[in-house]
Amino acid sequence: ALDQEAKTDFPIPAGVFAEKVVSVKHYTDRLFKFRITRPSSFRFRSGEFVMIGLPNAEKPTFRAYSIASPSWDEELEFFSIKVPNGPLTEHLQKIQPGDTVLMRKKPTGTLVHDALIPGKRLYMFSTGTGVAPFASVIRDPETYEKFEEVILTQTCREVSELSYAKELVEEVLNDPLVGEFAAGKLRLHTAATREPYPCQERITTLIESGKLFEDLGLPPLDPAIDRGMICGSMDMINDTKALLEKNGLEEGSNAAPSTFVVERAFVG
Ligand code: A2P
Repeated sequence: ALDQEAKTDFPIPAGVFAEKVVSVKHYTDRLFKFRITRPSSFRFRSGEFVMIGLPNAEKPTFRAYSIASPSWDEELEFFSIKVPNGPLTEHLQKIQPGDTVLMRKKPTGTLVHDALIPGKRLYMFSTGTGVAPFASVIRDPETYEKFEEVILTQTCREVSELSYAKELVEEVLNDPLVGEFAAGKLRLHTAATREPYPCQERITTLIESGKLFEDLGLPPLDPAIDRGMICGSMDMINDTKALLEKNGLEEGSNAAPSTFVVERAFVG
């Protein structure tokens, strides 16, 4: 109780929204999602991230979090890792409905439609919590207006870490609004590298060997048709980027859209 009182002793810093936690769901001892209220004035593009903190210090620690909910949603969803002794996540993992979460006002990011030129097939490559921005993108009807096929891939160490993405894709396909757009277009490809699983390879190995495309019944990457988005650890990003470039794709940005985009906000 003392802890609770101490938390509310700190004033809300300038330039941030103070929002209420709506729900929390824990997936593993390392992963959880939470949903907060959305300020009515807050606008963002699906795939962007914001800085998140807690009102537990004079100068709170803020970390970049992809918004996992789509831009039309009334709430904001986030998917988080729990870092032992992590300055933010050590506390964030304990939040309960009704608690206050701080959010800086300006969203930003490159995993957005604006940074890609038109194409037919969208590949989203993620590891771990890197799937979060894609949770937003696959719930946005614009994604299905722009692409004929939408393929989300996630690689994790353990099978249980894939639950969020599996649940999400199931939800999207059954959603009364987005489900109709996603039907027949959205597919999920999952791999677990450190446990027995039907697919036990890194995404980079799967691209290089062609097994990813065999599994999906699709032709090899084609820069005329295929577009990519990458979100994961720095090593995964660099290795995947190199493979896309080898296949003729080129990195784009908000200022200069091209055939694939990368988010580097989450990695050291
Ligand atoms: P692996 O188990 O073979 O290391 P991490 O938790 O280290 O970020 O890893 C998350 C997932 O990403 C794991 O399945 C891991 O595979 C995979 N991974 C790690 N580094 C790379 C990389 N450079 N390229 C592709 N996948 C990677």
